[in-house]
Amino acid sequence: RNILVLHGPNLNLLGTREPQVYGRHTLADIDARLQQVAADNDARCSTFQSNHEGALVDRIHAARSDGTDYILINAGAYTHTSIALRDALAAVAIPFIEVHISNVHKREPFRHHSYLSELAVGVIAGLGPFGYEAALLHAMAS
Ligand code: DQA
Repeated sequence: RNILVLHGPNLNLLGTREPQVYGRHTLADIDARLQQVAADNDARCSTFQSNHEGALVDRIHAARSDGTDYILINAGAYTHTSIALRDALAAVAIPFIEVHISNVHKREPFRHHSYLSELAVGVIAGLGPFGYEAALLHAMAS
């Protein structure tokens, strides 16, 4: 299995960004852990972070021809705003799981709607960095 992990805006600041909400793990910690879990299961995991909506759209398009079997995406705030990311995911038709570190449903109302959830295989929110790992295990077993 070839799994692509996409991280959206501001997730490069994990570890220092609102640690009471997002915890102390850095994005590098999370990516390293996912790569380890993938390697332990003879799978491959590539990771990509961008603060730019178009760069995320381009990376999703590239997944169509780079052998990606499954996408895990934490689109950050673009979750709640981006029809373009939703359309890109629909266009490539690669199964994906939506991940959020925090429980978006117990936060501000504007975080309760996601443009991605309707198309996702599943949605994980509120489990911290473990949410990515749970999603990865599911993707590898699919
Ligand atoms: C987030 C939740 C979003 O509402 C927020 O904009 C983020 C991170 C999370 O992982 O909990 O940037 O996706």
